Amino acid sequence: MKILAVSGSLRAASYNTALLRAAAELAPEGVSLEIHPLGDLPFFNQDVEEQGDPPPVAAWKAAVRDAEALLIACPEYNGGLTAVLKNAIDWASRGKPAPLDGKIACAIGASPGITGTVRAQDALRLNLKRTGCDLAPLSDILVGQAHTKIENGVLTDERTRQAIARHLASYVEIVRARR
Ligand SMILES: Cc1cc2nc3c(=O)[nH]c(=O)nc-3n(C[C@H](O)[C@H](O)[C@H](O)COP(=O)(O)O)c2cc1C
Repeated sequence: MKILAVSGSLRAASYNTALLRAAAELAPEGVSLEIHPLGDLPFFNQDVEEQGDPPPVAAWKAAVRDAEALLIACPEYNGGLTAVLKNAIDWASRGKPAPLDGKIACAIGASPGITGTVRAQDALRLNLKRTGCDLAPLSDILVGQAHTKIENGVLTDERTRQAIARHLASYVEIVRARR
């Protein structure tokens, strides 16, 4: 199985992108993870859409459409999603069928604060639901105080690594059961 992975942060030293790199190492046997960059997506604009999806949008929508599994690293800005992630969701909510429709995704998130993106992940669940995509029924992975657990882009905290490994294993089981 291949998991399509996206990070809602464009920051080079992003904690959330670091979680995805850790997830790639911690994925169960036989499961690979491919990070799709979101930085090239233009802001959603219905006028642009009407002219035809620009190449980065077409590539993103095709990747979502083809994905059996989707892992979203969800940073929190002002209690909600980053514009980068919301924009990507908006693009992939368009079309008939919408690329996100019928998918089951899973989320992780990291922040230096104590609550570790809980508000953003709640918002993510609601936003995805509107597109026909569910978040898998798993306990949230909320990596608070990320600056103490991620060093030079590497997730070093062993408990968090184990939690991500368990999370991915449960998620993969859920996806396989839908086959
Ligand atoms: C505009 C802005 C708003 C933020 N709002 C929140 C917030 O509501 N909750 C939170 O835990 N962290 C917040 N932060 C801090 C981010 O969690 C922190 O910058 C984090 O490193 C972003 O994720 P990244 O490391 O993947 O880029 C905010 C940061 C920015 C730049």
